[in-house]
Amino acid sequence: MNSNPIAEQTVYLNGQYMPMMDSQISTQDRGFLFGDGVYEVIPVYDRQLFAFPEHLQRLKNSLQAISIQNPLTDGEWLELLNTLIEKHPWPDQYIYLQVTRGIQMHRDHLPEECLTPTLYAYTNPLKAVSDSILQNGITAITLEDIRWLNCDIKAITLLPNIMMKLAAKARNADDAILVSREGFITEGTSSNCFIVKDGTLITPPNGHSLLPGVTRTVIERVAIAHDIPMLEQQITLTDLESADEIWLSSSTKEALPVTRLNDLVVGTGKPGAVWQKMRDFYQEYKLAFITEQAP
Ligand code: PDD
Repeated sequence: MNSNPIAEQTVYLNGQYMPMMDSQISTQDRGFLFGDGVYEVIPVYDRQLFAFPEHLQRLKNSLQAISIQNPLTDGEWLELLNTLIEKHPWPDQYIYLQVTRGIQMHRDHLPEECLTPTLYAYTNPLKAVSDSILQNGITAITLEDIRWLNCDIKAITLLPNIMMKLAAKARNADDAILVSREGFITEGTSSNCFIVKDGTLITPPNGHSLLPGVTRTVIERVAIAHDIPMLEQQITLTDLESADEIWLSSSTKEALPVTRLNDLVVGTGKPGAVWQKMRDFYQEYKLAFITEQAP
């Protein structure tokens, strides 16, 4: 790899592996014209796909929800993703994969039947979260959740998420935590939200207003295994503001502690004790997973 490793990345596009610089899609692709597609982001630790069955299931659910036929079998997905991993040197990676409804020469909101889905996937080096964040946490603001009513579909149409992320940046915050029109916390712009209150970990229940995060599922699994009290329950803005700890979770960041919310200090202003415990248990869980997968 030269000084610009990204330029030399190999990507997968519609059955072929090629340099990223050479990958091209049609301007008539419905993903380009309408944002008509779904995606997944899957972490890879020590060259092993992490929580692959859960990611694959969510991809199938997203495809089914928008009536795109799953273009590959489970075995074909696994082979494709493992080939991408093999083609790159990084021990820890994250894979981005996207399926759009395909190319339609005549632009029409109504999709033609029997289109061939466009399938794109590539991998990136997964960087560890910085020591500064682990020691100090991140900052977040609260914003009205301006998205649609099917946030459980992992749709590529992310304009509201981008707008809310920009609004957070404009207020010097790292991210935004979203509040529904009913007054409940849904999630972050690209993460799930947890609070800790009196030692109990609380996250909103799955449903149409948030993405069923795979990291969220792993955190729940780890909490149960280590007797950390855990509840799926609606969180109000008042609950959020009076929480002892706030976390945001995703496949690329695991669980991040939020130590400032709007103008308020969260807890002690440092990552909390329950987060510290979860961080250690989560790393143990990953290590056990890697060891189990080793040939
Ligand atoms: N996003 N909620 C939203 C809106 C997300 O976009 C994500 C992940 C999550 C967390 O899901 P998971 O734990 O399965 O990564 C929750 C990915 C990382 C992204 O868009 O890049």
